[in-house]
Amino acid sequence: MGAAARALLLLALVAAGAEALSLDVHHRYSATVRGWAGLRTGPAPGTAEYYAALAGHDDLRRRSLSLAAAPAPGGGPFAFADGNDTYRLNAFGFLHYAVVALGTPNVTFLVALDTGSDLFWVPCDCLKCAPLSSPEYGNLKFDVYSPRKSSTSRKVPCSSSLCDLQTECNSAASKSCPYSIEYLSDNTSSNGVLVEDVLYLATESGKSKITQAPITFAVDRSRRVHF
Ligand SMILES: *[C@@H]1O[C@H](CO)[C@@H](O)[C@H](O)[C@H]1NC(C)=O
Ligand SMILES: *[C@@H]1O[C@H](CO)[C@@H](O)[C@H](O)[C@H]1NC(C)=O
Ligand SMILES: *[C@@H]1O[C@H](CO)[C@@H](O)[C@H](O)[C@H]1NC(C)=O
Repeated sequence: MGAAARALLLLALVAAGAEALSLDVHHRYSATVRGWAGLRTGPAPGTAEYYAALAGHDDLRRRSLSLAAAPAPGGGPFAFADGNDTYRLNAFGFLHYAVVALGTPNVTFLVALDTGSDLFWVPCDCLKCAPLSSPEYGNLKFDVYSPRKSSTSRKVPCSSSLCDLQTECNSAASKSCPYSIEYLSDNTSSNGVLVEDVLYLATESGKSKITQAPITFAVDRSRRVHF
């Protein structure tokens, strides 16, 4: 992320006693935040260097909290195999996007990094999704996921502990777990089924070979235009 990170919210959770939890919200240019990143005399607020220092602070904190992924062969946390750059596209609102590769053979997607929801979904065999190419996308290439075309794709059964909508399965023996999510903004929603497949990761240093991580995600079959 660079200077374009407009909506950066820096939050600190403070546990105050066993029962009370408090949440401090700090402005990204506040003295507190500048202090965290050692920025009192450093780069000017809003510059790429300012955000790089904040990201460095977050990275250190993440490591100290042991929230980072288990050390990868070659050391350090993992990043998406296509790189850890994020993009902000004017055509797609105020979210940041990252490129992820899924399946065998792999297909790539630009996924919105939405901190307000926890479902990872990609378009599947859709007829009316957003266009796969546009001058707005620059050199980015987009795909549609098809479970039938990926040799590593597996259905997630209704009986899976990851299946929240078990009550909506057609029958107990149903082979696919459905999902449904509605977003507050822009009247958008996503519906479909859960699948398991591989996600490609590389060590953040980019030096070790690519790892295939099995993950469960959602494939959207609503065949509607999103965003
Ligand atoms: C992740 O970002 C860092 C800092 O910009 C860079 O040095 C590294 O090569 C990137 N790693 C990958 C896998 O893109
Ligand atoms: C995805 O497949 C292409 C070939 O179609 C290959 O060049 C690329 O390295 C693959 N990406 C990953 C992350 O495996
Ligand atoms: C939102 O969705 C509802 C129901 O599908 C529709 O009636 C309404 O016109 C939509 N609103 C906008 C702003 O698209």
